[in-house]
Formats: sequence, C-alpha cells, structure tokens
Amino acid sequence: ITRIFSGIQPTGIPHLGNYLGTLSNWARLQDQLTRQTPSEDCATNAVQARDKVIYSIADLHAFTVPQPPKAVLKNTLDMTASIIACGVDPERCVLFRQSAVPLHTELAWMLNCITPVGWLHKMTQWKTKLQNKNPSDHGTASSGIDAASDPNSETSKLRLGLFAYPVLQAADILLYSASHVPVGEDQKQHIELTRDIADMANRHFKTKLFQLPDVLMTTNKRVMSLRDPTKKMSKSDKTANATILLTDSDDDIRSKIRKTVTDPIDTVTYDPENRPGVANLLRIYSAFYQRAENSSNAESSALNDVTQLFAGKKNQELKEKTTDIVIESTRKVRQELKRIIKEEDYLMGCLLRGEEEASMIAAKNWERVKKASGLS
Ligand code: TYM
Repeated sequence: ITRIFSGIQPTGIPHLGNYLGTLSNWARLQDQLTRQTPSEDCATNAVQARDKVIYSIADLHAFTVPQPPKAVLKNTLDMTASIIACGVDPERCVLFRQSAVPLHTELAWMLNCITPVGWLHKMTQWKTKLQNKNPSDHGTASSGIDAASDPNSETSKLRLGLFAYPVLQAADILLYSASHVPVGEDQKQHIELTRDIADMANRHFKTKLFQLPDVLMTTNKRVMSLRDPTKKMSKSDKTANATILLTDSDDDIRSKIRKTVTDPIDTVTYDPENRPGVANLLRIYSAFYQRAENSSNAESSALNDVTQLFAGKKNQELKEKTTDIVIESTRKVRQELKRIIKEEDYLMGCLLRGEEEASMIAAKNWERVKKASGLS
C-alpha cells in the first residue's frame, strides 16, 4: 500500500453500514500506515505520513440529488465530525472537501472525454435508477439508451450528473495516485471502472499517467436495512427504524434492533438467501465480535464462531445480544461525535488545512496530465 484514498458523500449522518463497511476501516488503515515507532522523530514522521492517507468529503457528488443550499455546509461539517469521531485523525492524514480542490472537476472533464458511454450504462447504480424511473424496462444497457433518447420518456429526465458521477469518482482517486481504495461492496464496481478508465487514459496519452487502484473491503462490506434485509442500509432510506445512525442513543438502538424484520422460524441459523434478516444480525454481531476479540480471523471464521455461538438459540436472544454489542462497541464513537459535532471552528480548521495539502498533491498530478495532453 503506497497511498490510501477514499470518499463519502455528506448526505446525512453515517449509519452502521458506513461505519462497518468503510469508516472503521479508514481509521484502521490510517493507524497501520502512520504508526510511529518510539525511536522516530514524531513530528517529522507525522508530516511524512500524512499524505499516505487521504480522505475526502465528496460534496460535489452529493449534488447528483438536489441539496438545499442552507444545509450544505452543515452537512459537510457533520460528516467531518463523524469521520473524526470514527477515529480518523486529521493530524495524521489529509481530510478535505472535494469542492475545495477544483482540479477534481477538471480531471473529470478530461476523463469524460475518453470514457465510453457504454461503460457507464453498465453501472449497477445507474441501472437501478433507470429501472426505478421506468419499471417496464428490464435495465439492459441498450433499452436504457433507447428510452433516454426519447426526450419525453421518464428516463430521459434523469440528470447527466447522476450518469457521469462514477467518472468524477475516478478523477478523485486518480488525481492522488491512490494505490488502494477502502469502500463498501456497493462501490466496488466504481473502483473497477476507475481501473478501466486509468488504463484507457494511459493508452490514450501513451504514457503511464495513472496508477491502477485496488479495492479494499472490510469483513462487513454490505450491511442491510433493518426493515427490509434484501436492501442495503442506505443514507437515503427514510423508512423509520431501517438504519442505525451514529447519533442514535442507546434507547434508539435498542428499539430499532428489537423491531428488526426477521422471519417466523424461531431459532437462529445462518442462511442469507432464505433468512436475510437473521443473517444480517449475525454478520453485524460477528463484525463487532471480531473486533472485541481483537481477532485477525478471516470473515468466514468469525462468522462461523458466531453462528456456533447462537446455534439453537432464539432469534430474540440474537436481537438482545446484537443490541448489547452494538451499543457497547459504538459507545465511544457516538460520545465523541456528540462532543465534536458542536466544535465547528475546529472542524473547519481541519478541512482548511487538508484542502491546502490535497491541492498541492493534486496540482503535481494535474501538471502531468496537462503535459501529456498538450494543455501545458
Ligand atoms: P457513499 O457516501 O454512498 O458511502 C460511503 C461509504 O460507505 C459504504 N457503504 C456501505 N458499506 C456497507 N454496507 C452498507 N449498507 C453501506 N452503505 C454505504 C460505501 O460503499 C462507501 O464506501 N461515490 C461514493 C463516495 C466517493 C468515493 C470517492 C469513494 C466519492 N469519491 C472516491 C471512494 C473513492 C459514495 O457515494 O459513497
């Protein structure tokens, strides 16, 4: 790993999916990459290590759906507080707002000019949006194009930014020559697209301009909704009790997990296909269990241990034990968030410092793109 880069949209307080799927990993990776040995000069080491780990609040991505202008800054600061509360230390990494470094959109434009439209039509998130707009369309790339070319169709009203946003995401990553990108499973396809775009750009400009990044995923890369365990837990899901937020109190968490949709079979078994609600709780439990045990066991092994632990027990007991482990394991993060979310000047200071550093790294890479393309 030479450099980590990742991003998150400031579209609400992070939920358990964001935490288990990626934010807890952001902190862990930062700790691994910037670990200081006692003999080293701490100050120098910290400075050298900061630009190895770069995290961005993807505020431009958020505009793919309408944002009330008055909420934009507050949402960004809340997300900054959430990231720091999860253990990301702005002293040891670069934490910044995407919109503060305009080179993201400049590089995105250059990449737009070489990315085949057909690649974007294959993106699952886009196909889902098409499907939602036009349920009679079965989501194939070609029918999407046909429907979108009819100016009166529902699909043609979808916005260009929503379609092109994976290219902006590719620009985010490539601008910093990231070697690894920690994300949840729903973003994996976008990182694979980033590799394809990087490869295409390298061929197009006939030089190795961009590093092809690898995906890093946690053991719990896909946390499901508590109300509909066939859907992922999502910031945009407004269904009551579907998501556990990092701002939830112990009582909120207790009540939401108690109401989790499971199934009529009374005892616990791990059967993700037929019993997705119970499987989701087992995976959530096992993610925290693995951490509590400080175990480096592979995902399957922790999940096996936990499935054994609950074998023959009632679903009710699984819900109670999951409640306890979620409350205990997230207590520090939730308390820290409650404290830090009010420190707006501090949060803004962290972002401003990060913006300066991010801009310097981005400028170097942009200069190479300008040279290769003839713009400089
Ligand atoms: P976003 O803001 O939707 O989600 C942020 C991160 O949380 C993960 N995640 C989940 N993981 C497990 N279970 C879930 N239910 C769940 N829901 C969300 C996501 O996979 C993601 O890692 N386009 C990105 C933001 C972005 C980005 C980037 C990411 C912009 N530029 C560059 C990586 C690199 C997004 O919308 O994530």
